[in-house]
Amino acid sequence: MPRHVSLGWGVRKEKGGLWTRNAVRGKSVRGERRKRDGRIEWRKWDSRRSKVAAMLMRSKVDPSTLIPNPGSLCVYLGASSGSTVSHLHDHVCGAGNHHGGKILAVDISSRMMRDLLTLCSARPGIVPILGDARYPLNLAPYLPRMADWLFQDLSMPDQAKSFIKSTSHLLGEGGLGIISIKAASERWSTGGDEQHFDESETIIKSAGHLKIIERIDLRGLEEQHIVIVAQKV
Ligand SMILES: C[S@@+](CC[C@H](N)C(=O)[O-])C[C@H]1O[C@@H](n2cnc3c(N)ncnc32)[C@H](O)[C@@H]1O
Repeated sequence: MPRHVSLGWGVRKEKGGLWTRNAVRGKSVRGERRKRDGRIEWRKWDSRRSKVAAMLMRSKVDPSTLIPNPGSLCVYLGASSGSTVSHLHDHVCGAGNHHGGKILAVDISSRMMRDLLTLCSARPGIVPILGDARYPLNLAPYLPRMADWLFQDLSMPDQAKSFIKSTSHLLGEGGLGIISIKAASERWSTGGDEQHFDESETIIKSAGHLKIIERIDLRGLEEQHIVIVAQKV
């Protein structure tokens, strides 16, 4: 039994969780553990603090198919202070951005943006944008072409409708669009979480440009959250 399974360049799954190859050696982003394996330093990617990590731990499909390729063009809506974005950066860009990737990291909060800017100064390839993800046409000028991978994690109502707009305007055909849905963020007055998640899934399917690949329940890692993975067709 191998000690770890590679999920692609710079991402490992071990018995205790996920690790990414640290692009800024000697530095943690939010106090996470680091360890050396030969000349390489790895950072712990906490699946209780990152929905991308939680999704990779819980997915029933091959998790390596859910993360973007190194060097790809990514959009992350709801970047917050950038802790998940930093792990994506380890994988998509690497030290000094030797993979030539690009991650558009968008958040509406100026408080979060301050921390994100500090992160970006040490991690070339991340483009921080203070903006409202509900208006994707304002974000399009920052992309040289349609994105390969888009992740949305917005704590606000109408998450599914917003996802339809962002994937329609920013994601390229064949690209993966992934949304984290938090039941408590919606304004629903009746029905339970499962019913609300079903409604969100129906909204996403009805858009016509997204084929659902998987719906992942994050229970145990993130309560009242699901992730829906879709491919743009
Ligand atoms: C749950 S947090 C994201 C955590 C982050 N994905 C991570 O794993 O580190 C949600 C973020 O969405 C941002 N947000 C909420 N509404 C937004 C909007 N309309 N446009 C952009 N960002 C928004 C909030 O400021 C907050 O930082």
